[in-house]
Amino acid sequence: MENLQIKQGSKAERYAALLPQIEALVANETDPVANMANVAAALKQTFGFFWVGFYRVSGDALLLAPFQGPVACTRIGYGRGVCGTAWKEAHTIVVPDVELFPGHIACNAASRSEIVVPLIRDGHVIGVLDVDSDSPGDFDATDVAALERIVGLLV
Ligand code: SME
Repeated sequence: MENLQIKQGSKAERYAALLPQIEALVANETDPVANMANVAAALKQTFGFFWVGFYRVSGDALLLAPFQGPVACTRIGYGRGVCGTAWKEAHTIVVPDVELFPGHIACNAASRSEIVVPLIRDGHVIGVLDVDSDSPGDFDATDVAALERIVGLLV
């Protein structure tokens, strides 16, 4: 497996280069944990995000799944924090300043902005992709569109 080498270009250009590589990475593997692991690594390698990873629905909580970055909270309740809210509302949430999001769960004090994209299969949320930045305002419509496409490859 070659290392991904997408360090140049605008964010949109890097997502555009990354998308076919992620498609290739997940195309021949059906195991969801293996694919989540490689997607987390590919996003971390390409963008250097502070924290990028998945939580999977397990009973009445989101349970920590493959990620890259500092250790994180293992379980998040339905409707709790940004992740639990994205689960409940079943849509992507962008938080430009985590200090202004009521109920934000600070797994790490360095996290300043965040995007959470739900994984929706057959109308049900089966997990979320969570990306955290240590800078405020790091996520915009480009991230929403690209991360929703990437997550679409996993459901
Ligand atoms: N901040 C998230 C919790 C997960 S960690 O950031 C990895 C939240 O409020 O749901």
